[in-house]
Amino acid sequence: MKRVTILGATGSVGRSTAALIEAAAPGAFEVEALVAGRDAEGLAAMARKLGARRAVLADPQAYGALAQALAGSGIEAAAGSQAVLDAAAIPVDWTMAAIVGAAGLGPVLAALSHGGTLALANKEALVCAAPIVFAAAKASGARILTVDSEHNAIFQVLEARDPAAIAKIIITASGGPFRMASMAEMAAATPEMAVRHPVWSMGAKISVDSATMMNKGLELIEAARLFPVPEERIEVLVHPQSAVHGLVQYVDGSLLAQLGTPDMRTPIAHALAWPERMAVDVAPLDLAALGRLEFFPPDTKRFPALRLAREALRAGEGATTILNAANEVAVSAFLERRLSFLGIASVVEAVLQEMGSPAVDGLEAVLGLDEAARVTASRQVLARAA
Ligand SMILES: NC(=O)c1ccc[n+]([C@@H]2O[C@H](COP(=O)([O-])OP(=O)(O)OC[C@H]3O[C@@H](n4cnc5c(N)ncnc54)[C@H](OP(=O)(O)O)[C@@H]3O)[C@@H](O)[C@H]2O)c1
Repeated sequence: MKRVTILGATGSVGRSTAALIEAAAPGAFEVEALVAGRDAEGLAAMARKLGARRAVLADPQAYGALAQALAGSGIEAAAGSQAVLDAAAIPVDWTMAAIVGAAGLGPVLAALSHGGTLALANKEALVCAAPIVFAAAKASGARILTVDSEHNAIFQVLEARDPAAIAKIIITASGGPFRMASMAEMAAATPEMAVRHPVWSMGAKISVDSATMMNKGLELIEAARLFPVPEERIEVLVHPQSAVHGLVQYVDGSLLAQLGTPDMRTPIAHALAWPERMAVDVAPLDLAALGRLEFFPPDTKRFPALRLAREALRAGEGATTILNAANEVAVSAFLERRLSFLGIASVVEAVLQEMGSPAVDGLEAVLGLDEAARVTASRQVLARAA
């Protein structure tokens, strides 16, 4: 029996994780805690279905609704940011980290404090604070397994112990909903158009990140931090079929790839069962039906976010913290119709230009820089609204 906790339980990745646990053999998993932001109804329903020990919301205002929805179930209810950290810090064998954005960093660090395995979907935690995340894992002996599909793919095919044997790493991108769109079409893009992803079903923030290709930029940074390969040997290829998720090219000419149906349950199951495999009710990839696999270099003129992410990665930790925070502010503003679609990358670029890449040392410095970048980004959003 594995004791598990899901951080970000009511989201897209959280629900896929819950579905795998629910479908597993009785007694295979025991759910310690389910954590979400403010969706009391959704969290309580999931907690009842999975027989969780506790359900926790970040929003303290939502406590009443959660307690009411759990009345008579025997499931403990709690709310507030400290309650989230406390729940994440309860020792379990396996934690899914699927809170969206830098808000996930504190809970990730709390989960790493007790050891065990951390399945990391929350890429923003690595983008804004990788050294702190890795130090926390080292201190407790926790293992980090990546569930971003591209990184999980690379983990599966990265067999070389010697980094010098790796010629390059390739992560693929579907290209998002605006892969074929003109600049004029993108200038007029609405939130509804941006979240309509052609392949993956995901939360709103990552869907917009996919539309701007900032998601691939964040993944490029994530890959550089996870794998022993320098930035210049990490390549992004647009692959509209989203069948090949990640590839590793070795110095002997071998190119190893992981393929699969674009369904997050596969990489999550890989992390859940690792080092074993578990059966998942995912339609297997039918290559004959697919017919062809296409690959294109990304267009960084139409998708400047990818260029910005690479530049920030080269500039250093401070720049990637700023890039992530500015992007979160800009994406929220776009979803609230306070900023145009093309304004997202423009805000991020302006904030990076204004703030540079200050040195960051320790969690306080990261959180301070994250906050300062949010203030600067909010000002840049306002300037574009005027
Ligand atoms: N979706 C995918 O296919 C996919 C693939 C790879 C990686 N990822 C990464 O996984 C993460 C989650 O993505 P998603 O698509 O699942 O997002 P999502 O659907 O928007 O879900 C976000 C989850 O985080 C919770 N949350 C938000 N703010 C919180 C806070 N301050 N404290 C605690 N919980 C909070 C939300 O709770 P409420 O529902 O109550 O607001 C929800 O459970 C992101 O970092 C994303 O980049 C996602």
